[in-house]
Amino acid sequence: MPAVLVLNGPNLNLLGTREPEIYGSQTLADIGQQCERVAAEFGWTVEVRQTNHEGVLVDWLQEAGAAVRTGSLIGVVLNPGAYTHTSVAIRDAIEGAQVPVIEVHLSNVHAREAFRHQSYVSPVARGVIIGLGAYGYELAIRALAR
Ligand code: DQA
Repeated sequence: MPAVLVLNGPNLNLLGTREPEIYGSQTLADIGQQCERVAAEFGWTVEVRQTNHEGVLVDWLQEAGAAVRTGSLIGVVLNPGAYTHTSVAIRDAIEGAQVPVIEVHLSNVHAREAFRHQSYVSPVARGVIIGLGAYGYELAIRALAR
């Protein structure tokens, strides 16, 4: 069964208790269940992963590119967290591995501090969903189906 990978960067393991007024009260496990329900509509499985380490995200994106080429993976929903605004390595991994990525942010980064307005990932993402909370993950999976 084809799969979708939902990759989450630093501090997203704290969802539910981390600044709920900004990020909402759902945990990453809640979001994972929601992603599973949506992916099932398309006959796909979902794997949700989270790491606080930049290089781990690079490794996962490279593996994802290879899996897309073998047909076992549809694409990646990626919330890179703060690495969005700093990581050339993650951008290069997406480009180098040629992996279809939908970038997701729970909060509206453009309504926040100026340092959150720049994304290294957006230019190499297929699409970007910002500020719609956990619903953005669902929309990203639907976008991969298109
Ligand atoms: C975030 C926005 C980032 O600026 C922040 O560093 C995060 C979460 C979001 O989902 O809104 O960790 O990616």
